[in-house]
Amino acid sequence: MSRRPVLAANWKMNMLREEAASFCAALASSGSLAGGATVAIFPSAVLLDCVREGLAGTDAQLGGQDVHPETAGAHTGDHSAAQLRDAGCTWALCGHSERRQNHGEDDRLVARKAAAAQRAGLRPMVCLGETRGERSDGATLDVLERQLAAALEVGLEKFALAYEPVWAIGTGETATPEIAQEAHAHLRSVLGRKLGKDRAEKIPILYGGSAKPENVEELYDQPDIDGFLIGGASLDPNKFSAMITSCSEAARGR
Ligand code: PGA
Repeated sequence: MSRRPVLAANWKMNMLREEAASFCAALASSGSLAGGATVAIFPSAVLLDCVREGLAGTDAQLGGQDVHPETAGAHTGDHSAAQLRDAGCTWALCGHSERRQNHGEDDRLVARKAAAAQRAGLRPMVCLGETRGERSDGATLDVLERQLAAALEVGLEKFALAYEPVWAIGTGETATPEIAQEAHAHLRSVLGRKLGKDRAEKIPILYGGSAKPENVEELYDQPDIDGFLIGGASLDPNKFSAMITSCSEAARGR
């Protein structure tokens, strides 16, 4: 089954307007957006307008880095799914490990956020992954299954998963293709058990954790790796567009 590659840039708390605008100009003129991959940028919420304008006229999509589980109300500092949608987003990241770790988000809250995103017409990208300790305890596959099962309880329909081993995020230590494939295959088999094989085959499962131009090719070569959620390397338009191009070319050969 060939799935269209998805390349997602998670800018985290980086970039000012001027940098974001020049990133967009460079990306738009790189030619990489016309190669057939789905490309989505997840900037800080205050930069959504700037990125939307900078990429207008291209097929690049926009996403929020986080979303509140409630529809509206007294939640200072938060953003609702409808507000993200109104700002031009079609995606919302849910449960990035930095949110799970630094903001105490548990599986249930992540699932509620994904449900809120879906209700507003956004496509949730649910992030999952084990810590270094969980991996050394041999608990990786159980952790992934628990995180995924909680997210599926809210009845997600159109969504993507991002497998991001916590020990690989921002560390320069990338999962080997074999380690990543084992996790992705496990997630796909859990999806198959819970949603049926046909649906499971269509759900994009992205890898994240120190992905960069030098390693995307061998990772993307794995049968269950459908794209990347990229932090550090996505801040450089040359690196990001090189990654888009290499996956687009590989997908055409699949
Ligand atoms: P990284 O971040 O590519 O810098 O490791 C990935 C992520 O946190 O989504």
